[in-house]
Amino acid sequence: MKLALERGFYFPSCEIYADAHAGFWEYGPTGNNLKNKFIELWRRELLRRDDMIEIDGSQIMSKSVFVASGHLDNFTDPIIKCKKCGATFRADRFITEKTGKEIPELLSGNEIDKIINEYKLRCTRCSGSFHESERFNMMFKVEIGPSKEEAYLRPETCQTIFVGFPRIFKTMRGRLPLAVAQLGKSFRNEIAPRQSLFRLREFYQAEIEVFCNPNRLNELPKFDQVKDTPLLLSIKNSSHSVNAEDAIRKGYLPNKLVAYYISLLSLFYSKTGINMERTRFRQLSDEEKAFYASTAFDFEVETSIGWIELVACNYRSDYDLKRHGEISKQNLHVIDPSDNTKVLPHLFELSMGIDRSIYSILDHSYYEDTEAERVVLKLVPQLAPVLVGVFPLVTKDGLREKAQNIYSELKLDYSAFYDESGSIGRRYRRLEEIGAPFALTVDNQTMKDDTVTIRYRDTMLQERVKVSEISVFLDANK
Ligand code: GAP
Repeated sequence: MKLALERGFYFPSCEIYADAHAGFWEYGPTGNNLKNKFIELWRRELLRRDDMIEIDGSQIMSKSVFVASGHLDNFTDPIIKCKKCGATFRADRFITEKTGKEIPELLSGNEIDKIINEYKLRCTRCSGSFHESERFNMMFKVEIGPSKEEAYLRPETCQTIFVGFPRIFKTMRGRLPLAVAQLGKSFRNEIAPRQSLFRLREFYQAEIEVFCNPNRLNELPKFDQVKDTPLLLSIKNSSHSVNAEDAIRKGYLPNKLVAYYISLLSLFYSKTGINMERTRFRQLSDEEKAFYASTAFDFEVETSIGWIELVACNYRSDYDLKRHGEISKQNLHVIDPSDNTKVLPHLFELSMGIDRSIYSILDHSYYEDTEAERVVLKLVPQLAPVLVGVFPLVTKDGLREKAQNIYSELKLDYSAFYDESGSIGRRYRRLEEIGAPFALTVDNQTMKDDTVTIRYRDTMLQERVKVSEISVFLDANK
């Protein structure tokens, strides 16, 4: 957190005001660069690799969407309110914290009240007793126009993909499976936002919705490209380290389509610098699954705050298109050109949290080098907010001008950073703390033979490179 705040990764929103709300954070310049590079990698490794299409939909959606999706009825958390001071707590977490008892999210109100009474649980702020538990809907309601029609900020980006499906399918000369991706903000009125980017009220999701024919989930020739992908699966509390093909054969994953997309996701994360040995795909139990999911795996990462979920991989069956068809009274069936049958497509999704991914990447990259007394973010070059720092060793004898010229050339094609303030050692430290893999220094020898030193962040070793070959070096190492 200290590094994130001091080095411009992220900071609380509206922090100069006393009425700033919890659960809203801003990306500073370094965090924003890291986020954009992460998104670019997501586009490259998932969208372009698999010929997916990407849309960008509205964040505010009409009430009918959420009647159909089930969010108005089901997107709720149980809460308890103190009779004396009004403090509100999320009931299931409160009970677990106080009693050590694991409470399913979907426990009925009566059962929650029974446990509260049985354990004589009281408000932690004032020791008051609680009102009967209630369910709190986590969507943000908004009013449209002077007539104040009811609408909602979307709690998951994918709803715009679902309601746009008929037009998307038609304009893209529909085929199945069809993977539609979207990156954007989602909004949830979380009861207890916490741990900076971990539980936010406004956050980025990058979702991929695969529309598929349920009768052809094993007819996927491209599966062969990923069949050897190593996967760590956690099923009913036992771990299995298998490749994608064996995962299907042993019944851990239900079909080729699910195994294919889970493999692509795993290959993507292996390029982000996250230590894949500290990750798993955990199958959710019936009590844990979201109300729309028939089978669900969470991609989870072990961090310094414990295991956290980065991606929900849900098989949503025909739940969404069926409900939107019923409520909108539109026919959302399509013809699958591969067998000419009429189907209501099923959905498998990879619903990724960008903010939690950034949090985990920072967590896994953070390194305290006690010997050299430095903090280093060992980010992979592709995601580093700054790829290369450019420093003049001193600002006299033409070194500053030479370094500035080099920087002016580099900054158009690479994320470069110029710094001439403070000792060279301090400049290296600043760069290491934002994860820049290379520092390029202009010194007296540069003026004689047109070479610079390139210093490697992790090893601190240096080598000399001709100015004319800096781009070749960076292209080979980015
Ligand atoms: N469309 C399915 C869906 O939205 P989800 O498990 O509710 O599934 C998917 O959310 C991902 O979005 C999570 O795995 C997590 O990374 C991210 N996410 C969900 N709620 C979040 C929150 N309050 N703050 C930050 N990220 C969140």
